[in-house]
Amino acid sequence: MTQVDSTLISDWHVVADIETLKDDTITTTYLFGERIQIERNHLKSISVTTDSGREVISRQKYGFVWVCLGEPGRPIIEIPEAEENDRHVITGGSMGVHVSGLRVVENFLDMGHFPFVHDGYLGVETNSETFPYQVDITADDEIVATDCKFFQPVASPNAEGGIMADYEYQVLRPYTAVLYKTNPLQPHRKDYIAIFVQPAGEEHCIVHPFLCYLKDGIDRCTVRWFMQLIFGQDKPILENQLPKCLPLDPRAETCIASDATSVFYRRWLREHNITYGAIPIDSASNFSESKSGDIIR
Ligand SMILES: [Fe+2]
Repeated sequence: MTQVDSTLISDWHVVADIETLKDDTITTTYLFGERIQIERNHLKSISVTTDSGREVISRQKYGFVWVCLGEPGRPIIEIPEAEENDRHVITGGSMGVHVSGLRVVENFLDMGHFPFVHDGYLGVETNSETFPYQVDITADDEIVATDCKFFQPVASPNAEGGIMADYEYQVLRPYTAVLYKTNPLQPHRKDYIAIFVQPAGEEHCIVHPFLCYLKDGIDRCTVRWFMQLIFGQDKPILENQLPKCLPLDPRAETCIASDATSVFYRRWLREHNITYGAIPIDSASNFSESKSGDIIR
């Protein structure tokens, strides 16, 4: 088994959508290359064990089973939007992807691919400009990208025509990212999308989306359908990326201005010594980048 970084061992990871589990049945999945069994009894209590028979710490929250393979270093993330009564709170359907989960997070943060991968929905090829935006590291050591704007012909199924959508992105954990985007019917409020990426192996992951959409003008099934439509467009692109692990050397892949969040993400992973699903930089190499607060143009 590949060595797993201590930061990841002490973190929480989604390993199942509770809706997919059956009572008195064992479900098998993988985390960090290790096979684990999830068992739910008729009282809806869940236990998770490794192949060696070790029971690991598990919780049920936001419709998912979460596990921590070691001692939890911090709680499961808090999502205030999930408590708001005027939102659909939905698991988006878990999807396996043959690529490192870090690649999936990076793609989630990238607006530049909208016109090319999601043409006619989240972008149009004839209007592919990515505007300047701000990227920072917060006091809580999270990456936040703000002032992100993108023209979208169908920002959401309830949109009546194209809008200039405002986005905010956050990377909360190495394998967890969230975004807030303009709700077409209530432009002063935002819909919320998180992805909890389960690193099944270094080059395989399971993506668990979580959605908190304002109920106005849309039903639950349509929210989930749209998420799966969009992710179905991303999946083959992700699976064609080579190498399948994410290179952390800033010189390994050419970055353009619209990749600012990606540059921050890779640097943040390096600074947190995350190597699982990554191609680590040679520690002897030197590189220089500005630290934070950059306005990328
Ligand atoms: Fe995408």
